[in-house]
Parts: sequence; C-alpha cells; structure tokens
Amino acid sequence: MVELSLSGKSVLVTGAARGLGAAIAEAAVAHDARVLVVADILTDELESTAERLGPSAHAVRLDVADPGSWCGLLPVLRALGGRPDVLVNNAGIVTTASIADLDPADFERTLAVNVGGTLLGMQAFLRLHHEMASPRAGSIVNVSSVRGLIGAGGAAAYSASKFAVRGLTKSAAIELGPLGIRVNAVCPGPVVTDMSVGNPLFAAMDWDRYAASLPLGTLGRPVDVGEAVAWLGSDASAFVTGIDLPVDGGLTATSFSAQPQETTP
Ligand SMILES: NC(=O)c1ccc[n+]([C@@H]2O[C@H](COP(=O)([O-])OP(=O)(O)OC[C@H]3O[C@@H](n4cnc5c(N)ncnc54)[C@H](O)[C@@H]3O)[C@@H](O)[C@H]2O)c1
Repeated sequence: MVELSLSGKSVLVTGAARGLGAAIAEAAVAHDARVLVVADILTDELESTAERLGPSAHAVRLDVADPGSWCGLLPVLRALGGRPDVLVNNAGIVTTASIADLDPADFERTLAVNVGGTLLGMQAFLRLHHEMASPRAGSIVNVSSVRGLIGAGGAAAYSASKFAVRGLTKSAAIELGPLGIRVNAVCPGPVVTDMSVGNPLFAAMDWDRYAASLPLGTLGRPVDVGEAVAWLGSDASAFVTGIDLPVDGGLTATSFSAQPQETTP
C-alpha cells in the first residue's frame, strides 16, 4: 500500500498567505513535506503564515501574473534544491459582472492571474525540471473551481478563467506525462475563505441556504481542499493525471436550476 505522504518532497504553493493556499501548505506540513515554499503578493500575511507553518516554510513574494516575478523566484528555488516535487498553482482572484457590464480590463486581469499565473507556474516548473541532472517524477496541481465545470451567471470572467485552467491542465498532462510529471486540477465548491463568505462582493448571499442546498448540507473547510491536493501531490495518486477533482460537497452532482443566481467562486 502507498501511504498519503509527502515525506522527502519539496512543495511550492502560490497564493499561500491565506485561505485555501495556506490550508494546502498546512496539509503539506501535516503530511511531512521536507521543504515548503509559500508565495503570495500579501507579504505581511505571508510572513505570519510561514511562521505558523514552521521551519520547513520559506516565504517568497510572487505575483503569479508577472513573468519577471517568476524569474525572481527561480534562484530561490535553485538554492532550495531546484525543481520542487510538487507545484500547486492556487493563487486566484474572483470578479463579478454580467456579460453586458464586464469591463474588458477586469476580464483581462482575471485571465492574467488565474490562467496566465497557472501557465507561468508550469513553465517555471518545467524550466527547473530540464536543469535536473537526473529528473525525478513530479506533480502539478492547478486550482480550478466548480465554476470551471459549470457556468456562473454574473461571474463569466471567473468561470471562463477556471474552464481555461482545466484546459491547460489536460494539455499539460498529455505533454508532461512522458517526463514523469502528473498534472491535475481540483475544482472546489464553496469553501469558507475571504474570497467567498468573507467577500463583500457576496455580502447579500444567504450562505446557510446555499449550504443547505448541497448534498452534504455544509460549506467546505479549507482543509478539505488541502487534503485533496496533498493526495494529488503524493505518490498515493501515482496513476492519476489529467483529472478535474471536484471537492464540492456534491454541488456538481445536483441540478443547480433551483438557484440560478449564485455567482460564488
Ligand atoms: N473559496 C472558495 O469557495 C473557492 C472555490 C473555488 C475555487 N477557489 C479557488 O481557490 C483559490 C484560492 O482561493 P481562496 O478562497 O483561498 O481565496 P483568497 O482570496 O482567500 O486567497 C487567494 C490568495 O491568492 C493571492 N493572490 C491573488 N492574486 C495573486 C497574484 N497575482 N500573485 C500571487 N498571489 C495572489 C491572494 O493574495 C490570496 O492570498 C483561487 O484560485 C480560487 O479561485 C476558491
């Protein structure tokens, strides 16, 4: 039997200052990751998250949408042993607007962070992979959303970006499989973070009613996504690549027609 363990592995998590990224980093520590690089633009919050995670955690400022920022991260990763074993492209933003009102600049920014950031992360990973004298297997986990599986009225830019993350994931799984690199996506449903319940954009939302509409009757906890990502990063999922794993309390198993107005991440 292969245990769910990240023992001996190095892990890079983007958008790790808070929310799902911080929980993914916590799960990596709980499963014995050797080195953890946590990256974000929120440097103060990131520093305290890294402190909480313990001595294996290294905090690095990274804007995932900026190619120059990724170039700046490469020497840090090289100094920590080169290509990480696991890359988690988690950083993301949510925008809400109807198709009619969607500002092209907001559309572009949403795609730049959510899709461009994921692409740049995979490119940086590959660059380091090709520098390895004896390349090891690796795992990339891209954080999509249930909005990348079903549409979202009022959040088309976000939904389009999360569908694109799945497209990138599947294409990368095909290209990188022969290199021993697995590439998968997780598609969280509503999970309690600053992007969802804590977000002023969704102040009018009845979260209790939403939770009650899900087959499991509850919103997700960040740790639920953390554990799913840890599994995809570990050798316990060695034959799994190119999948979209909903972590959604059953949301995508249901007909959502009763609540067409929901626009949450
Ligand atoms: N919370 C949910 O219900 C939910 C559901 C589905 C998918 N997701 C996805 O999960 C991921 C994490 O979301 P969350 O709920 O933790 O949100 P969050 O807003 O709490 O955290 C997102 C983190 O990403 C960082 N970030 C944003 N832009 C960045 C950039 N350009 N470079 C680096 N870091 C950046 C933020 O600073 C923040 O720390 C996102 O990709 C989001 O789309 C969340």
